[in-house]
Amino acid sequence: MRVKEVPTPDARSGENDPRAETRRLSGLILVDGALRKAETEAQFDVIHPGDLSVIGTTPRCGQADVDAAVEAARRAQILWRKVPARDRGRMLQKAADAVEARRDIVERVLSLDTGNALRTQARPETGSAVDLTRMFGGLAGELKGETVPAASPNVLHYTTRDPIGVVAGIIPWNAPLFLFVAKIAPAIAAGNSVVVKTAEQAPFCVLLMAEILNTELPPGVLNVISGFGEECGRPLVEHPVVRKVTFTGSLAVGQAIAAYAAPKLCQVTLELGGKNPSIVLADADLDLAIPGIIDGMRYTRQGQACTAASRVFIHEKVYDRVVEGVAKKLSEIRLGDPLHEATDMGAIISAEQFERTLRYMEIAKSTPGVRMIFGGEQPTDPALSKGYYYPPTFLDGLGLESKVCQDEIFGPVATALPFREFDDMIAQANDTPYGLSANLWTRDLSRALEYIERIEAGFVQVNQCAAPRSNVSYGGLKMSGLGKEYALDSMLNHFCSSKTVLINRGTPAVGV
Ligand code: NAI
Ligand code: MG
Repeated sequence: MRVKEVPTPDARSGENDPRAETRRLSGLILVDGALRKAETEAQFDVIHPGDLSVIGTTPRCGQADVDAAVEAARRAQILWRKVPARDRGRMLQKAADAVEARRDIVERVLSLDTGNALRTQARPETGSAVDLTRMFGGLAGELKGETVPAASPNVLHYTTRDPIGVVAGIIPWNAPLFLFVAKIAPAIAAGNSVVVKTAEQAPFCVLLMAEILNTELPPGVLNVISGFGEECGRPLVEHPVVRKVTFTGSLAVGQAIAAYAAPKLCQVTLELGGKNPSIVLADADLDLAIPGIIDGMRYTRQGQACTAASRVFIHEKVYDRVVEGVAKKLSEIRLGDPLHEATDMGAIISAEQFERTLRYMEIAKSTPGVRMIFGGEQPTDPALSKGYYYPPTFLDGLGLESKVCQDEIFGPVATALPFREFDDMIAQANDTPYGLSANLWTRDLSRALEYIERIEAGFVQVNQCAAPRSNVSYGGLKMSGLGKEYALDSMLNHFCSSKTVLINRGTPAVGV
């Protein structure tokens, strides 16, 4: 079995040359409304996972840059919170228009940074990031408190929704633009200012988007710094002026961040990992289920998604048909240069993540009885030997206790697991510390409703597997996170503080 491979494209040039753009952004951060050199001299290389070329360098920020960015944010927020909410929203929407006008370059830099395929990933992600920014801009008028029936006749009882102050965002590299916007847009609409630390693997697309957004926002409202977790992320979380932290990434780092924030009793929102099930019942419409399994695994993002459904439970009556159908469709996925229009699936982000996939594949291959339904070997095409390419891989013959079925691999590897009894399958699907997302295919409404009730996941779908998006409230149960994102409730519950106010009318003054 062999994945179709795409040849290297011609070098790109001109206005939409993403390499010229990453060179321009090299060595810079965005503080107080302008791109500038960091306080620190230290920098590190950023590579393009498609060919391992260095596309630029990024500052290795530490305490001094954290302090400068937080101070800029603190000053800006004093004025920003006084801008009427709908005016803030309108400015955000104009900022989204500015990004849309330059989306050709933004999406290319995103693809260059991440190795995610331009056509299937970077372009739609850029569109979603613009859409989510606009949505939160439009929702700024919904920052309303409540009036409450008072306990005594002379009292007016109400609540407010106020900005929190300076918000810190720490983001990963897998969908950096969408996750960036998910943090900053609700925070900014709600009258906060923000300091974001980009992921070390993919800083430039976020910096570019922030630069464009800053053409419509007052200086200091949105600041972007770069660096490593312990060195830059930690002091940002611990900074006394930061009163809210929003993070997407690994469980271990989410736990560390919650611990850093605990002494100052600072709120955290955490979007962490998953080991999600896709489930096919015997009566499922397989024309929906087969492409759904593939979409659900996010193969065309190299499986690098927290919602990747990497445990595929299939009823034994339809097992063979489903695995054959999935294998056939996987053979149509074109692996290749991320920036090439014909490519469906690009490269894994880094050496670390590539080796992680290889390590789990070693575990799988050394397990007796394992079968590669599709993939499982590195591509042989010399054009793909320069980057971190691995084909979509679907295997079976593993027990649920295998580490491959327990750990979040975050690579393009899914395991098929046959089942007979619905109850056993639900117990197995829930047998993970995570509880992020789950997908089920069936024509039986009663079964679907039972699954919805019993599955331990925060994002639950039936007969489809759409990616998280604007206006769909998204967040995990169990060890998959704290809080929800992408919808109005995120802005109201996670980026606002509130006062409860009781006003006693007293008695009218005499003679007035
Ligand atoms: P990570 O969780 O280490 O990094 C995510 C972000 O947190 C980056 O900006 C990083 O610099 C920052 N960070 C790391 N350590 C920190 C610390 N001590 N304090 C503050 N910030 C810190 O994720 P990484 O190393 O990129 O990937 C490792 C695994 O994490 C993946 O294999 C995957 O399982 C999971 N992951 C999950 C994601 C999701 O969408 N839920 C996204 C990325 C990774
Ligand atoms: Mg890490």
